[in-house]
Amino acid sequence: MRVAMLTGGGDCPGLNATMRAVARKGERVYGDEIVGFQDGWRGLLEGRLVPLGVEQLRGTLPRGGTIIGSSRTNPYTVDGGPDQVRATLASNDIDALVAIGGEDTLGVAHRLAGEGVKVVGVPKTIDNDLSGTELTFGFDTAVQICVDAIDRLHTTAESHDRVMVVEVMGRHAGHIAVWAGIAGGATITLIPERPFDVEAVCEAIRKRHAGGRRLASIVVVSEGAIPEEGTMELQSSQLDAFGHVRLGGIGTTLAEQIEARTGFETRVTILGHVQRGGTPTAFDRVLASRFGVAAIDAVHESAWDTMVALQGGSIVRVPLAEAVGTLKIVDAEMYSVARVLFD
Ligand code: F6P
Repeated sequence: MRVAMLTGGGDCPGLNATMRAVARKGERVYGDEIVGFQDGWRGLLEGRLVPLGVEQLRGTLPRGGTIIGSSRTNPYTVDGGPDQVRATLASNDIDALVAIGGEDTLGVAHRLAGEGVKVVGVPKTIDNDLSGTELTFGFDTAVQICVDAIDRLHTTAESHDRVMVVEVMGRHAGHIAVWAGIAGGATITLIPERPFDVEAVCEAIRKRHAGGRRLASIVVVSEGAIPEEGTMELQSSQLDAFGHVRLGGIGTTLAEQIEARTGFETRVTILGHVQRGGTPTAFDRVLASRFGVAAIDAVHESAWDTMVALQGGSIVRVPLAEAVGTLKIVDAEMYSVARVLFD
């Protein structure tokens, strides 16, 4: 078969590892020819195709990002986009497409599958907010980067008796914040799923510092965390092709508010795209490789319109519709564990 891959949406560590696994099993076991469209759906619309076999992917296992590039282009917002996608696939003799992405990329894949495109999905996102899979690759690496940063912030915060606000990614779901908050020993963690009252945050900090001890108070906040109505003003921002607001900056406002209301010196660290960069953890390399092998198997079993997924430690297939239907948010059990540990 002639199988094409593409990587869409925000990049994350493990994309190259996935493609490497697809190419290895595809070429060596199935005798496929593997190619890649550059820059996500944009490259498919523009017919930009490159060879992407074992040779091209050699040495990429530990490399972050994606060697074929990514974009947030949505073919359904481009005039004649879906027709153009089908035409490019046909004119390049592509038998199957492996789309590696998050809810937006896989949402497009699902719609195209409904129009006859032979596509299999692979879940990736540092946000870990895709349904149907317990984990996406990229998440473990992002959490580890956050925890390393929080560990370092603890010692400087303690030396200066300061409050540190750490803003992490997570547009609609607070998985990164909750995991990093638990593993990093945060005082408070604020996530999009639970609107917060800034005064309650300040009260918790005041109580904590009441004994006069030299303490590091770490407040982890998801970029998408939402203040309860009327408790704190935020700036709005511009939208991308999928209608998402570009976030980032709540940490700064929150730090200003904490300092003004409590009188404790407060600093902010916005981890931003550092969380998406660099080498994947061993866990993400393994998960990405398992997904890649399962994706090329799915192609050869004509499991179109499905996504490979992790469930109960095993790799399974789920309908793409299930994966992109609703976002996976932080569940009550996980949050209650976190609540017990914060202080
Ligand atoms: O890919 C997910 C993500 O990292 C979100 O956590 C974040 O809100 C967004 O992407 C940032 O997107 P961009 O790189 O386009 O600024």
